[in-house]
Amino acid sequence: MKMLYSASEIARKVTELGDEISQAYRDQELFIVGILKGGFMFMSDLVRSIRIPMKIEFARLSSYGNADSPMGDVSIIDDIHEAVTGRHVLIVDDIMDTGHSLLAFKKHLEENGPASVRICTMIDKTVRREASISPDYYGFRIADGFVVGYGLDYAEKYRTLPELYVLETPETGGTPT
Ligand code: IMP
Ligand code: MG
Repeated sequence: MKMLYSASEIARKVTELGDEISQAYRDQELFIVGILKGGFMFMSDLVRSIRIPMKIEFARLSSYGNADSPMGDVSIIDDIHEAVTGRHVLIVDDIMDTGHSLLAFKKHLEENGPASVRICTMIDKTVRREASISPDYYGFRIADGFVVGYGLDYAEKYRTLPELYVLETPETGGTPT
């Protein structure tokens, strides 16, 4: 595993993002929806650097759903429990890769008439993007590679590491770990 960003680099970036978001939504009440499990660590740091009133909710998504469902391969294991109607929603997740899960979830929220829906991810991984979407706010942009730590896992491992790493596996063309 190779370290990409240290805990202090992450903290600095999260502070910048918090300032940017606080400024963008300064006259509004934010409704933040964190995506479990990957987004939990970023979400908990980000909300502490946003200095405007907000409400928080969580949702849990899975990409092993039914391809015939309205959300395609993405399914909602646990939806939010509050109405988004008329609210300014910010979805917070660990990473955007193909973009399918966050596009599907964004569309799902938009069915209930929110005032706005934006997306903030810690990492914007661009090379495998398929859905026509990109995060409105992101911490770090990388081209490719499997990232772990700071909430991101590989088969439930490495999620609790405070730094971000790129995992080198045979599939990603690197050294087995
Ligand atoms: P999507 O391809 O943008 O729909 O991303 C779906 C999910 O795949 C993300 O929310 C992550 O949970 C997971 N994922 C994608 N790339 C990575 C990675 O590099 N490390 C860990 N999880 C990833
Ligand atoms: Mg995820």
